[in-house]
Amino acid sequence: MTELPRLPLPSRRTFLAAAGVGGLAAVTAAAPAEAGAPDLTPPAGFDFPVGGPLPFAHGVTSGDPLPDRVILWTRITVPDPAAIPSVDVAWELRSDPQMTTPVVASGTVTTDASRDYTVKVDAPGLAPGTTYYYRFSALGRTSLTGRTRTAVSELVHEVRFAAISCASYWSVVRWDGMRRLAERNDLDLIVHMGDQIYDYPDEDEWVRARGHTDPATFDPADVDFRRWRTLAEVRRRYALYHADPDLIEMYRQHPVFVLWDNHDLSQGDDAHQVDEADVIKAFWEWTPARPPLGDGSGAFGPAQRGQVTPRVQDYVYRSLTFGPMADVRCWDVRHIATPAERAAGKLLGDTQLAWLEASMKASSDAGTAWRVISNGYPFGQFQIAGPPSAAALFPVATPAPGDYGAWDVYPDERARIVQSLRGSGITDNIIVTGDAHGNFVWDVTDNPSAAAYDKLDGRTPTGGVASVGVEIQTTSLGRGGGTETIASTGYMQTHGGMHPYGDRAGFQPYLDAAVPATAALSAALVQENSTMQYAEWDSHGYGIVHLTEEQAVLELWWQPIRTTSDTETLGAQLTVPRGAAHATQVLRPVATSGSRVSAPAPDADAVAPADLPEVAAPALLLAGAVGAAAWVLHRRRTTTPAVER
Ligand SMILES: [Fe+2]
Repeated sequence: MTELPRLPLPSRRTFLAAAGVGGLAAVTAAAPAEAGAPDLTPPAGFDFPVGGPLPFAHGVTSGDPLPDRVILWTRITVPDPAAIPSVDVAWELRSDPQMTTPVVASGTVTTDASRDYTVKVDAPGLAPGTTYYYRFSALGRTSLTGRTRTAVSELVHEVRFAAISCASYWSVVRWDGMRRLAERNDLDLIVHMGDQIYDYPDEDEWVRARGHTDPATFDPADVDFRRWRTLAEVRRRYALYHADPDLIEMYRQHPVFVLWDNHDLSQGDDAHQVDEADVIKAFWEWTPARPPLGDGSGAFGPAQRGQVTPRVQDYVYRSLTFGPMADVRCWDVRHIATPAERAAGKLLGDTQLAWLEASMKASSDAGTAWRVISNGYPFGQFQIAGPPSAAALFPVATPAPGDYGAWDVYPDERARIVQSLRGSGITDNIIVTGDAHGNFVWDVTDNPSAAAYDKLDGRTPTGGVASVGVEIQTTSLGRGGGTETIASTGYMQTHGGMHPYGDRAGFQPYLDAAVPATAALSAALVQENSTMQYAEWDSHGYGIVHLTEEQAVLELWWQPIRTTSDTETLGAQLTVPRGAAHATQVLRPVATSGSRVSAPAPDADAVAPADLPEVAAPALLLAGAVGAAAWVLHRRRTTTPAVER
C-alpha cells in the first residue's frame, strides 16, 4: 500500500483570513507544498469560487456507505487547467484522525477536464459500522482529513440520521446549520433530500452574494447569482457552494446520501438551455452519490476499480441498509417518470414503483425494523382553503387559497403506494421530505382528505385511511419558507414589483410582520389537513431521525439565517412508537444523542501532522475519545432543548 507523504496540512483559518470572509476576495495564500511541487499560486484576477488553498479548494466528502465500502470525493482546482491537463491523485483511508495507524485502503487515480477534475473513488475492504478517516494528495499537497462511517450490519442500540434539504447559498449570512451538523459526532449518515445547489435566487434572498456587499453596485446578472447558462456554469455553481467554509466542514465530517430535486436538475432559463444530460453529469461529478446500475433495479454493482464514472443516466433511486434496524432509500419524483406517465398521474413511474414495492417488501421480509424514504415532494396533504386569520394579521399579502403540495396532484399513485404497504403489513415507515422549506409532520395515509382520520390517536381504521407510517419535512437549510414568501410578496406589492434583493433594512419590517401571519397559516394547515400533526413554516435548519427498536424520535433543529448564533434550538420533537404509524409531539423534549461517538476529523490548525509528535496509536485513540466526551458534555450545555425560540 502506498502511503501519502506526511505534509503540513493547509490551515483553513489562515487561508480564509487571507482570502477574505467566505472566500470573497481573491486568493493569495499559498498552501504548504512539497519541495519541487508546482506553483499553484492563483494569478491576479483569479475569480473561481474556492474555499481553501489550491488544489483541494472545495473540501472532501464521502457518501453512500455500505457495510464494506464508501465513496470518497474531492476536486482538484488549479490556476490554469490548460497547463495541467490531468492530475494523479493519491488517496488513503485509516482508522485514526491523526492518520498514524496503518493504511486500511489506498490507491491512485487520475482526473481531468472530462469530469471537471472531480475525484470519486470507492474505498473497499472496510469493516461495518466503523469510523474511518481519509485524505487525498496531489501536486505536492495534501487535502484536509475527512471522517466517514460505514453502515452497520448488526443490531446496534440506535441508528441515527440527519436530514437536510434546500440549502441556498444566497439565503444565509453564515451556514450555522451546517456548522452545527459538522459538530455532531454520533451520526451514521446525512440524508440530503435535494436542492444542494440552486439555479437562481428567490426574491427574498441575497442575504449574501459572492463578491458583493453593496446593494447600490450589485449586479443581479452576476455569474454567481443568475440562472446558469452552460455546463461550465452549473459546475461553477457547485464550486460556489463548496467554497463555503461551513459547508466544507459539514461534508468532510459525515457521509451523505444525496438525492436530486428540481433545482439540482434545472436547465436554466428559456434563453440559455443547458442539456439535461449535462446537468445530470454535473450531479454525478460533484456529489459522492453512488450510481446504481443502469438497469432500473436500484442495485449497486461491485466496487469499481479506479474512479467511479460520472454517468449520464436516468436512475438515482437506490437504497442503503443499516443492519436489522433500518434501511434508507431515496425515490425520484423529478426525473424518472416519462411525460406519458406524468400525464397518466404517475410521479414515480412504473419501473420505479415496481422497485419500491419490491424493495419495501424485501426489507420487511428481512425483519428490518424501520424503512426510511428520502423524498422530494410533500407526500402528505398540504391544502388550505384560505387563511382568514392571516389576512387579518397581515393585510398586505395573503397567500392565495390553494394546494401547496405536489403528491396531492398525484392522489392515485399515492393511494397505490400506501395500499400496497398496508396490504403487505408494512407500517414502520418514515418518509423524510425536502422541497417545501418548512417544518411539517404527517401520519401517512392513502386518503389524507378523509375527515374520518383521527388526528389524536391515529388508530382509526375507518374508510381505509389507517396510517402506514410518518412523514417529516425537515425545513430548509436557508431557502425561504412561509415567512419569506409572505414578506417578499408584501415588499414587491409595496415597491412596484421590485425585489427586496440586498435591501436588508427595508425588508426586515416585512419579515417581522410575516411571522404571525405564517404562524396563523401553519395553524390553519394543521386544522384543515386531518393527517398533519405539526406545522411551522418559519424556521430553518435540519432534522434528526433517531431510530431504536422501540421507537423513532424525530427532531427539528433550528438556526438563524439572517443573523448568526453559536447555539441552536430544538424546535420540536415527535415520537413514533414501533407499530403505531402515528407521530405525537413531545411537550418537554430532551434531545436524543447517539451511543456510538466518533472523534471528529481534526481541525486543520489543531493537528497539522508536522506539529504532532510520533506517539503510539493507543494514546492517540484515547486522546480522541477524551475529546469526543468533552464535546458531548459541551454540547449538552450549549443545546439545552427549548420549545420557545
Ligand atoms: Fe427547495
